[in-house]
Amino acid sequence: MTVSDPVVEAVVATIGRSATEIRQGLIGRRGTVDEENPSGETQAEADVWADDLLGDRLVGIDGVGQYASEERAEVVDCGADPAESDAYAVAVDPLDGSSNLKSNNTMGTIFGVYDAALPARGETLVAAGFVLYGPITTMLIATEETVTEYELSGGERTIVDRDVTLPDEPVVYGFGGRVPDWPDDFHAYAREIEDELKLRYGGALIGDVNQVLTYGGTFGYPALESRPEGKLRLQFEGNPIGYVVERAGGRSSNGDRSLLAVEPDGLHDRTPVHVGNDELIERLEAALA
Ligand code: AHG
Ligand code: MN
Ligand code: MN
Repeated sequence: MTVSDPVVEAVVATIGRSATEIRQGLIGRRGTVDEENPSGETQAEADVWADDLLGDRLVGIDGVGQYASEERAEVVDCGADPAESDAYAVAVDPLDGSSNLKSNNTMGTIFGVYDAALPARGETLVAAGFVLYGPITTMLIATEETVTEYELSGGERTIVDRDVTLPDEPVVYGFGGRVPDWPDDFHAYAREIEDELKLRYGGALIGDVNQVLTYGGTFGYPALESRPEGKLRLQFEGNPIGYVVERAGGRSSNGDRSLLAVEPDGLHDRTPVHVGNDELIERLEAALA
């Protein structure tokens, strides 16, 4: 099943087709380069390589006016300003969870298609999703209509779920950051959740969020004492994941409001990220109020 908007379909088909190559290309690229990304983090060889591969292909799509990635300081102008045309802006985390490369654990590629110039509020997303490099390579695509899950093989995508919906009963949770670095109000909330749900934390946002989408529950990378703005990036991680979970019937929050309502200042702004079942996010926001 293709996505109705032809530009969005071209973007997701390009990412889906590239996924098999990216997965194969991780072999031999598990080291780090002595460069930092705009967030000041050491880059893995595979981060740079996946960004080059995806960037080259996505900038050439008719209807894509801007490309941005967590690996590049600036937005790449693709010839049309989304603020003044019907072109879209595509934001990508080419390799999410790249610290899992060394330990051979789950990783992914995250994308958001914004109908606005970047940096933009998540409310301007028209589509978002991710590729999950797990035992099987899968892809989740969320649009205004629905959330669809595909299995990817040989550049083709096969539908496995036409209407991904968060299960009503929460089962799993995962919270990032070090426990001593959690503010007291979040710590108290986390203690409650730990008594109720099962821990699933794998160090890659999309792997942990896919657990929540599959079993119900919540994932959070909270504001920390040492880092009140949190770790995850709004444009490349928070907004796309918030959009997917909200389209799947759940909620997202920066601790105070939907991630999609957060007004960005800069392209690489960080934000606390919380996603999951309605009731759990409601309790979180009450705990941090
Ligand atoms: P990235 O590899 O794109 O920088 O993302 C890593 C992020 C995210 O995937 C994950 O939720 C988080 O970092 C894990 O952080 P910790 O290593 O601090 O747990
Ligand atoms: Mn990431
Ligand atoms: Mn990344």
